[in-house]
Amino acid sequence: MKKCLFPVAGYGTRFLPATKSMPKEMLPIVNKPLVQYGVEEAIDAGMVDIGMVTGRGKRAIADHFDVSYELEHQIAGSEKEQYLESIRDVMGKASFSFTRQVEMRGLGDAILNGERLIGDEAFGVVLSDDLCLTEPGTDGVMKQMADLYQQFRCSIVAIQEVPDHLIHKFGVIKGEKMKDGLYQVTDMVEKPALEDAPSNLAIIGRYILTPDIFDIIKNTPPGKNGEVQLTDALLTQARKGCVLAYKFKGRRFDCGSVEGFVEATNYVYENIYSA
Ligand code: G1P
Repeated sequence: MKKCLFPVAGYGTRFLPATKSMPKEMLPIVNKPLVQYGVEEAIDAGMVDIGMVTGRGKRAIADHFDVSYELEHQIAGSEKEQYLESIRDVMGKASFSFTRQVEMRGLGDAILNGERLIGDEAFGVVLSDDLCLTEPGTDGVMKQMADLYQQFRCSIVAIQEVPDHLIHKFGVIKGEKMKDGLYQVTDMVEKPALEDAPSNLAIIGRYILTPDIFDIIKNTPPGKNGEVQLTDALLTQARKGCVLAYKFKGRRFDCGSVEGFVEATNYVYENIYSA
């Protein structure tokens, strides 16, 4: 699997005013923008064709994955050049394509906008607000999922258990346990009230999708909040065939919220940056 899609058109209202003119995906966790963490995770899984579904006001993302001649000329040969190492490495390994979501009609719609970039093959999806970190030397979350895909050949959603008071923020699955940490999805609901939640297993922003999802999305009516929900399309796919839910190994930070962002910043500073 070579392709990974990044829906990056969202507004990031929870971070205003910081995100008024800057994409939320460019918020740094210590010294690296959120979206670069996601791209590095995809590359580690062998997904080197990166597709981004962007929107207005998001050009900084495309610029980040391009050379900056003036800057690079200025610091060439100086000790500051080392700070560009990680992004140069990413640019050397992956290629980037961009398409725009003209109207914000939900995550399902964003994914559908990526159809031309993906074509007829299975692909990864990273929601870069969800920063997923694993122990050094172990597989990243996308790699764990790509390996599972090789075995089962169907769509996979990443899940984790969340406490009751947070359940309404997520897509929530119900599944039959196949083995430790792996479920076959039988039901899923987007952002249910606690009393309607089918379990405490919440979808985290990592997916592997088979390409039949595009036609399913085209036939999926707007759902929760009037948006075309990927969760609804995945439920259709689960009923027709098979969708798996995988309790990944690693830690997830909700960097779309200020609390999660600060927690991630402290964690990365202490455990990665200063280590
Ligand atoms: C999206 C999905 C939701 C999932 C969540 C993970 O929601 O719609 O099912 O649980 O990502 O972060 P969002 O948080 O973008 O509203």
